[in-house]
Amino acid sequence: MDILRRPRRLRGSQAIRDLVHEYDVGISDLIYPVFVVEGEKVKEEIPSMPGIYHYSLDTFEIHLKEIWDSGVRSILFFGVPDHKDARGSEAYNMNGIVQRAIRLTKKEYPDMICIADICLCEYTDHGHCGLICDGKILNDDTLELLSMAAISCAAAGADIVAPSDMMDGRIGHMRRALDDQGYEDVLIMAYSIKYASAFYGPFREAAHSAPAFGDRKTYQMDWRNKKDALIEAQLDMAEGADILMVKPGLAYLDILKTVADTFPLPICTYSVSGEYSMMKAAALNGWIDEQKVVMESMTAMKRAGAKMIITYYALDIARWLREREV
Ligand code: PBG
Repeated sequence: MDILRRPRRLRGSQAIRDLVHEYDVGISDLIYPVFVVEGEKVKEEIPSMPGIYHYSLDTFEIHLKEIWDSGVRSILFFGVPDHKDARGSEAYNMNGIVQRAIRLTKKEYPDMICIADICLCEYTDHGHCGLICDGKILNDDTLELLSMAAISCAAAGADIVAPSDMMDGRIGHMRRALDDQGYEDVLIMAYSIKYASAFYGPFREAAHSAPAFGDRKTYQMDWRNKKDALIEAQLDMAEGADILMVKPGLAYLDILKTVADTFPLPICTYSVSGEYSMMKAAALNGWIDEQKVVMESMTAMKRAGAKMIITYYALDIARWLREREV
């Protein structure tokens, strides 16, 4: 046998494999999304996302300790307000539910990174991400409200604001607005590349944010396209975004790789609700090995170029990583 190059040599034992392996998921890569609601003693499981809950501030405070103890150091906040109106006014209420949750987190754990998702869809009665007039999105008028939401979260102590609305020009508008108010140290993590994806289905149930009419296809991207991703990333970088995001994750690894190879900024990807629900449902049926499938999927996102991953599995992954260490 004349086989000089034997790739299997590098796979010969666990120790060799550990020595030569290229990509890892670490606890510091993980961002954990949390849904906060008004009221007291609320800890309500989201039916399509077993293991993920709505928390009122008192139960969130208990969960917050679990998050901190897990080693995860970044939380992405979503608010589900009681009051919704046409202008999404709870989004920029200085004392809104997300703003209070951030204040509480910063008081108890000043080193926890608080990321505020900035959008109107959870706060508007029509469920769209922008202002509506005669069934149309008013792009430019929406920018002012998004910037007000960003400022209210920055005032509450947010380290990062993450606009997820997909209006044109929002990053530049928000950067100027934050700087004008003295929040030039607050980072912007832009949901730059956000496709109009059916994988957000469970989230919309969780956030009560399904659009009352129509869909989001005039602002979120068409998944038959790739070039758009470069334009969106370029604009957001030029307008001052600090971190670019590609969303969803698993079904968009090609986009993630292209963006990560092209733009010299840290890249985040969002492994969205539908990805979580699919893996969780299969796991609960005993059809897949949950830990292995989740770790394989997360590592794929790292390999494709993500520096950080938003995932509902963050606390589980942190636990699995810790168990592996002992
Ligand atoms: C708000 C927002 C959405 C998600 C994050 N921010 C929903 C949407 O755009 O419809 C989806 C997150 C997920 O599915 O986990 N605009």
